Amino acid sequence: MSAGRRPLVAGNWKMHKTPGEAREFCTALAALVGSEPSVDVAVCPPYTALAAAADALAGTSIAVYAQNIHEAASGAHTGDISAPMLLDVGVQGTLVGHSERRAAGDTDDQVALRVRAGIDAGLLVVLCCGESLDTRRAGDTERWVTRQVQSALADVHAADIDRLVIAYEPIWAIGTGETATPAQAQDACATVRAVAAERVDAAALRVLYGGSVNPGNAAELMSQADVDGALVGGASLDPESFAQIVEAAA
Ligand code: 13P
Repeated sequence: MSAGRRPLVAGNWKMHKTPGEAREFCTALAALVGSEPSVDVAVCPPYTALAAAADALAGTSIAVYAQNIHEAASGAHTGDISAPMLLDVGVQGTLVGHSERRAAGDTDDQVALRVRAGIDAGLLVVLCCGESLDTRRAGDTERWVTRQVQSALADVHAADIDRLVIAYEPIWAIGTGETATPAQAQDACATVRAVAAERVDAAALRVLYGGSVNPGNAAELMSQADVDGALVGGASLDPESFAQIVEAAA
């Protein structure tokens, strides 16, 4: 990874942990990571645990991100949460376009609007992209990822670079224990960077790999030239294993 791109390791908790469990986790993680880590560290609790996590991590360098946002700031959107609401409880960033959200109905158009809305509100947006197993087997990974990134960044501009991160997460590697090889991760992250270069200074853009990252494979994946960190699911639910992945990035 380039010296200009500070590594980021983010833990996506998905639909796990109560506020009490989040508090306990965050206190343990802060002790393990220390006060001045050489990498950026974030946790992405479910909505109900965001305030507890932000409270437990106040005064530490560990950030709290949400797992999704709605594109509107407020309104008649039952069940949704906006970027300004998240900022108010101490959230600094958000995932957008995770494959599990896309599978639940989030469209490319919504993803693009949410990237814009998150950046405009002042959040760091971690845009997620990645292909299915069928797409990979058909040899269409590059075309698929290119289309997803172009669509999501349709309204992103050079000035947005500091509030944008892109995570490449092949769907077939998520929660399966089957990790992309370092070469596959590198190839796809290089594609992401090349496509993002149409919009931003991609040499300064952080691109993460996600999909069955664990303490045993993290260092090799993150040592690839275009991989600037990791978006971790299952292995981020335990403070020790997540801290080991942070260590691997350092
Ligand atoms: P796993 O690390 O559990 O495969 O999940 C990856 C992921 O979806 C992170 O957003």
